[in-house]
Order: sequence, then C-alpha cells, then structure tokens
Amino acid sequence: MEFLEVIRKRKTTNGPFLDQPVSKEHQHLLMEAASRAPSHFNSQPWRFVLVENKAIIHRIAELGGSSMERLIAEGRFFERYRPYFRFSEKEMEERRDGILIDQLPGPLRPFTRQIMSPGALGLLRTLGVPRVLGEDNRKLVAGSPLLLAALLDKQEYRPGELSGFYSVLGLGMAIENVWLTTVELGMGIQFVSTPMEIPEAWEEVKRVLEVPDDLELMAVYRLGYVPPERPRPRIDWKSDHRKRLSQFVFRDTCRTPEPDH
Ligand SMILES: Cc1cc2nc3c(=O)[nH]c(=O)nc-3n(C[C@H](O)[C@H](O)[C@H](O)COP(=O)(O)O)c2cc1C
Repeated sequence: MEFLEVIRKRKTTNGPFLDQPVSKEHQHLLMEAASRAPSHFNSQPWRFVLVENKAIIHRIAELGGSSMERLIAEGRFFERYRPYFRFSEKEMEERRDGILIDQLPGPLRPFTRQIMSPGALGLLRTLGVPRVLGEDNRKLVAGSPLLLAALLDKQEYRPGELSGFYSVLGLGMAIENVWLTTVELGMGIQFVSTPMEIPEAWEEVKRVLEVPDDLELMAVYRLGYVPPERPRPRIDWKSDHRKRLSQFVFRDTCRTPEPDH
C-alpha cells in the first residue's frame, strides 16, 4: 500500500476481529515497526507484552467490561468526556473534532442529545445501557486474538522530568508505527482504556500481566485481522473528521492561521 494511503486509512477498529490468530511473523513485524520509532538518545524506553493466552485475555476483557459498566453507570464517563461528543453532522462540520454519535438503538434515539446530561443517567440505567455497553466491550476484548500491552522503563519514564515526557513521546510514536503497520497487514487495533480509568482495575491488569516494579504499564490494545463485512455496533460513533488547516496550523507565529487552501 502507498504510504500516504496507509496514513489516511488508519483508524480505530471498534468491531469484532476474525477468530484467527495473528501470525508470529505479523506480530514480529508490528514489534519491528515499533522499535523503528525515534527515542531520546536511542534509549528505546518502550517494552511490549504480546498476549495470546486466552485466560489472560479473558481476565483483561472482564476488567474492561466491568470498568466500562461502572464508568457509564456512575456517570463518570459522560461527565469526563461530554465535551468530545457531537450529535449532528452540522455540529461536527463546524468543529471537525470529537466523535459523532450516529448510531443508537431505537429506544434511545429520541434522547440522543440529552444522553450526556446528568438527568439522563436514570433513564440509561433503566434501559440497561451500562450493562449492555460493558458486556459488548467485554466480548470485543475477549474475542480478540491478540492483546498488546505497552510499557515504559521507569529509569527513563520519570514523570515531571523531561525524560518522562520524551519517553511518552517516543512510546506514542512507537505505537503509531504499530497502528500504521496494522493497516498494511489487514489488521485492526483499538485501545482498551476503560480499566485505566479505575485505579483498582488498572492495578489488577498490572498483576495479571505480572508487571515488575521497574516498568510502568502505559496502555493496552486489542488487535486482530479485520473481517471483510463489518456490521456496526449497537451504539456507534464516527471520528473520521479532521480539523481544517486554519483550525490547527499557523504561519510564522501563532497569530496567523494558515489559510485552508
Ligand atoms: C490516549 C487515547 C485513548 C483512547 N482511548 C480509546 C478507547 O478507550 N476506545 C476507543 O475505541 N478508542 C480510543 N481512542 C481512539 C480515539 O477515539 C480515536 O483515535 C479518535 O477518535 C480518532 O479516530 P480514528 O482513530 O478512527 O481516526 C483513544 C485514543 C487515544 C490517543
């Protein structure tokens, strides 16, 4: 695939993967791509765990699902992320950022806009939405043939110091390399970030992965081959819009936005 085409096609996969193991060759290609990222003084502070063990995947899936259910039921998810939700193409067209909720089950549709308000929480609970979303999330993670945990060496990752920032930057670039390579390999990838939002769940993920004291667990992803047909999840969003040049690029100083054309 052309390099720019890969960049343009990169996206988050929030549907199921094929029930097919990721070949060792592909797993190692993903890791080679990660290792080609730049890092401060070539320190390569990243570490990765490739998880294929079903018992471990299922345990992390349970933690992902239960964290999702809790975050939604307690209203924390909507409270924290309300600013990123768009409810109409028009709203999205203006800002061109955030995620557009464009697919909801029938009973919820009339409440699309209210869904993020504190008042809607009771309704969501009555309709069983937290449980449904938690269970959907658990199934997605449990059905993934491969999880990838990304870690940093604590000798380099010292939060508050430049080295800490550089390490995070380097890990971000390594992960982007992995992400881009999934496009080339017919694979998909998605963050499993809900356990990060509940400290006890995150501690449990660390225990399950047997993360030693000298490493910091930074993120977990699920990966697999993408099926040709991709039915949309019951509650779904789009986030393929991008800001116009004038919304994020300046010329010479921060005073002058770059014209769009
Ligand atoms: C730090 C971080 C956390 C994220 N967490 C999640 C997540 O929990 N679930 C998910 O589906 N996507 C997650 N994403 C993906 C973003 O939602 C996604 O990249 C963005 O909406 C743009 O969509 P695209 O990746 O399809 O282009 C996360 C991205 C970042 C950088």
